[in-house]
Amino acid sequence: MTASAPRHEPVMLREAVDGLAVRPGGRYVDATVGLGGHAAATIAAAQPGGRLLGIDRDPNALAIAGERLAPFGDAVILVRGPFEDIAAICTSHGFAPVDGILFDLGVSSLQLEQAGRGFSFQRDEPLDMRMDPNAEVTAAEIVNEYDERRLAALIYEYGEEPRSRRIARAIVARRPILTTGALASAIEQAVGRHGVPGRRHTLHPATLTFQAIRIAVNRELEQLDTALSAAHGLLAGAGARLVVISFHSLEDRRVKEFFRLHSRDCICPPRQPVCTCDHRATLREVTRKPLRPTDAEVARNPRARSARLRVAESIVERLAA
Ligand SMILES: C[S@@+](CC[C@H](N)C(=O)[O-])C[C@H]1O[C@@H](n2cnc3c(N)ncnc32)[C@H](O)[C@@H]1O
Repeated sequence: MTASAPRHEPVMLREAVDGLAVRPGGRYVDATVGLGGHAAATIAAAQPGGRLLGIDRDPNALAIAGERLAPFGDAVILVRGPFEDIAAICTSHGFAPVDGILFDLGVSSLQLEQAGRGFSFQRDEPLDMRMDPNAEVTAAEIVNEYDERRLAALIYEYGEEPRSRRIARAIVARRPILTTGALASAIEQAVGRHGVPGRRHTLHPATLTFQAIRIAVNRELEQLDTALSAAHGLLAGAGARLVVISFHSLEDRRVKEFFRLHSRDCICPPRQPVCTCDHRATLREVTRKPLRPTDAEVARNPRARSARLRVAESIVERLAA
């Protein structure tokens, strides 16, 4: 990497590589390769003979990952695309089944800090927030075109923001809103300068609304649901691992429920006396409770503070052919 290349400090790096149980000669997917930090550690631990396929929908991130992972030559394949297509991507590259898959969700420091992407309210720039610059919907379209009820519902559901109605009303009253700065100041005028009442007083008043709009622009939760199922089907067999690092409770809840569902032998309603579901456990939760970053890591890299890492392991021979 060049000296001026953007940096993204990989979150819970040791825990992620340990969670994947990387072994020499293994085959791994980094579904959110970003700037290649986790990928570099994974492919290094998989030598000799290991291979890695990295996916990202952001071409700027892939260019940097490509430079960083170049020393590993043909052992690394990088593919631009959404991770909901993980099964098709792996199959078309002859990269299935696999021994481990990592998801490090959310945005990278590159995306937050790169001028013109519109992810951050720390700078005033066009409202964009697309991880894939060719995606159809931008934050500006959601902010300026959704009706007030739909906007409030989105801010409530994806931001878990209790003041969603007040914020939606203020946004609609100030349209058109074309920049991150204008959006942040509309929110501040609606709810004041304080964080969320009763919790998270340290948050900027716009944090949860920006999170909600970003999740909607990038269809983050739908992508995660589809990708978890597909990734499950790609695991090579007993011992293959799924590792997910999430950054807010909406993601972590989905991961927890997915792992829990596939770790159970019966999913019949609790009051039903006889099992009729025929469901069989295919995963084992390696982490019953999510791992959290150490205090030292959070002090070094505040972005890690909300990270939760969960690991599940296949307990069956391969599911999908
Ligand atoms: C937190 S960063 C990953 C950082 C990476 N682990 C590293 O060490 O540099 C998340 C990355 O995942 C990508 N991403 C998020 N959702 C995605 C999706 N649905 N499909 C493909 N890439 C996605 C983002 O573009 C971003 O580059």
